[in-house]
Amino acid sequence: MLKIAVIGLGSRGKNYGTHLAKRGDVEIVAICDKYQSKIDNVKTLWKVPDKMCFTDEKDFFALGKVADCMLIATQDRDHYAHAMKALELGYDLLVEKPLSPNIEECLDIEEYARKHGRKVLVCHVLRYASYYRKIKEMIDAGVLGEIQLIKHDENVSYWHFCHSYVRGNWRREDETSPMLLAKCCHDMDLMYWFTGSKCKSLNSYGGLTYFNKEHKPENAADNCFDCPHRNTCNFEVEHQYLGRKKIIGRGKKKFLWGTYAFCTSSKKKDVLNALKTDDRAKLWARCVFACDNDVADCQTVNMEMENGVKIMMTANAFNEQDHRHTEIRGSKGILIADDRGSVITLKLFGKKTKKIVVNIIPVIKGHFGGDEGVVKATVGMMKGDSDPNMQYSWIADTVESHRIVTAAEISRREGGRTVEMSEIPDIRE
Ligand SMILES: NC(=O)c1ccc[n+]([C@@H]2O[C@H](COP(=O)([O-])OP(=O)(O)OC[C@H]3O[C@@H](n4cnc5c(N)ncnc54)[C@H](O)[C@@H]3O)[C@@H](O)[C@H]2O)c1
Repeated sequence: MLKIAVIGLGSRGKNYGTHLAKRGDVEIVAICDKYQSKIDNVKTLWKVPDKMCFTDEKDFFALGKVADCMLIATQDRDHYAHAMKALELGYDLLVEKPLSPNIEECLDIEEYARKHGRKVLVCHVLRYASYYRKIKEMIDAGVLGEIQLIKHDENVSYWHFCHSYVRGNWRREDETSPMLLAKCCHDMDLMYWFTGSKCKSLNSYGGLTYFNKEHKPENAADNCFDCPHRNTCNFEVEHQYLGRKKIIGRGKKKFLWGTYAFCTSSKKKDVLNALKTDDRAKLWARCVFACDNDVADCQTVNMEMENGVKIMMTANAFNEQDHRHTEIRGSKGILIADDRGSVITLKLFGKKTKKIVVNIIPVIKGHFGGDEGVVKATVGMMKGDSDPNMQYSWIADTVESHRIVTAAEISRREGGRTVEMSEIPDIRE
């Protein structure tokens, strides 16, 4: 039986832990979260005895090494300290992305793990989704010929963006990460994985252009419940989470899964009560134009890879639904893919357009099956499997995505200056 310890029982930790607990070959032996409610939410399901449940990380780490592997699913700025502590205790790791907002810290974790023979996987879940694997498989098989250009858009829905990057956990860079790291280290990882090449140089433009005080409507209140615009505003909180029908000109929208960030119950009355009375939950009832957010809501990145492939990438908040759209142009034809559908369109020059249906699991089920995939890979890693079809998201492979974002953020801050990747620290000898 493989033993796993888990720190961070928010939406990600709960998700992976539940996949692990469902398997017959894994035992979750110890868990830790700052909030008792998060522990209570999973401990019975995961069969963890009370004496192995901790609200203080000091007590959790003081246990020493009680499992084979530790899952680290705390917030972005905690990953470094938690990963280093766990590595020092002798754990192999599954760590959430981003490894750290500081590139030197990413390199520290990689170096320590390599020098001490520890195995570390990073949760770049899209590498495990059948849809992205199909694209990678076609590129590697040479279907498109020599790849020349990739256009890739990370279209974040306005409601997801407001939940996470305006009102929520990833709204402030000093507390978490720049938006491009939090949301798009996955996309940068895909670009590196698809092209099989590191980045040579890039530039980036962007910033916080819409969800700011300048766009606050006249007379708007700081809290949605008190706001005169609440029946017409697209970003109104009750409409966003509970699908209040009254809102003018809009259909019913529900974003109930997001409520786990501030309320462990998904009952409508509990969610509403939390949004009105709980100090932390109230953050999510704020006017989207009166928050303390500072991360970009619109950004572009232009890259030239070392193998010559050119990449144009965008990330923005102005979409009805979450979806990534990718166009890959090669010497033999074009591949167009959108992860909301189940079809990849292949237009080979001189041939009939072909539609390839990939067996896609909806994103709501966990990144099109990628969440379950990374859990399976972790078990495989621990058992020493060397499945040739499984292209694991090893730490050494995923550091490049963090280097690319580091360079893009430098460029964005410097008005779009071209940044050579040689300026960015890389894996040490
Ligand atoms: N792989 C992906 O696709 C993906 C998607 C979303 C988020 N993430 C990343 O996963 C991580 C977790 O995200 P989330 O959405 O689950 O956030 P979350 O806030 O819901 O969960 C984090 C949990 O960690 C707990 N925690 C924080 N500090 C702690 C400490 N010192 N000791 C014990 N517990 C502590 C919090 O109480 C919380 O329950 C973040 O780094 C995020 O960027 C990854």
